[in-house]
Amino acid sequence: MFVLAHLSDPHLGPIPEARVSELLGKRFFGMMNWIGARRRNFGASTLGPLLTDLMAQAPDHICVTGDLVNLSLPEEFDTGATFLTSLGEPDRVSVVPGNHDAYVRSAMHYHLEHWAPFLSGDDTHPHTPVDVDAFPYVRRRGPVAVVGVSTAIPTAIFLASGEAGRGQLARLRTLLLQLKEEGLFRAVMIHHPPVGTRPFHRDLRDAAAVRAVLAEAGAELVMHGHDHRTEFGVIPTPAGGVVPVVGVPSASAGPDDDRGAGAYALYRISGEPGAWRCEMERRGYAAGDATVRAREVQLLAPFGSAA
Ligand SMILES: [Fe+2]
Ligand SMILES: [Fe+2]
Repeated sequence: MFVLAHLSDPHLGPIPEARVSELLGKRFFGMMNWIGARRRNFGASTLGPLLTDLMAQAPDHICVTGDLVNLSLPEEFDTGATFLTSLGEPDRVSVVPGNHDAYVRSAMHYHLEHWAPFLSGDDTHPHTPVDVDAFPYVRRRGPVAVVGVSTAIPTAIFLASGEAGRGQLARLRTLLLQLKEEGLFRAVMIHHPPVGTRPFHRDLRDAAAVRAVLAEAGAELVMHGHDHRTEFGVIPTPAGGVVPVVGVPSASAGPDDDRGAGAYALYRISGEPGAWRCEMERRGYAAGDATVRAREVQLLAPFGSAA
């Protein structure tokens, strides 16, 4: 049994004191957004107990699907690195960036520099700088291959969209087919959801192309964040199967958050190629209930079986 934990969108606070020059433009509106909405029902007081519960489950690996920071200010990436380090050794913790981790063009390289140990593939030399072309990365852990896809692109003001890009998608297709040959359980991390519909300004621009690659090459699990909601979808495959797609709320959201109470997912993986078993358990808060506990169990593989 291999246990994978999945959390997302901690939006770690508080926001550091920003120089005025750094707050011009998109960051200024992000700051207003934070002050206006995010301070309510959001923060370390709710994230702490959730992480305590997660650690008590002793997962073999932890996946963090982006939006660790808020405005992509330099100091926030140190906070992000401290957060990742608190979860475990880099070989047991994997991260992909979200739109807030690449909030403005000038900050595109911060997550690559500060979080390199947590987003480097197994084949990355420790002293080689990680760049955007290193995505998707892969980490083989027991029966599981953790695949990290980046959809983080700098966008204009008011935009929170993402894009995987043609080059990365071509590499993803090749990688997923290779990992299938190796008989591994392919667990894909991506910040923006590749399924469902959302407003243009929050969308994954090439979602259709991402879905096409996942359908053709296959994956046993896709994990995402971004919407801050409990979500579940499927991508049908040509062979008649499905790729399960799971979204989790923000790990920092309180019980009464508008978009969904703070939660994370655990995946208990066993079986073998062609006969995988994957049980998902969602744990966290619920509206009006400030205790962290199991909320839902769902069998993702074999898909459609009773849990
Ligand atoms: Fe987010
Ligand atoms: Fe996001």
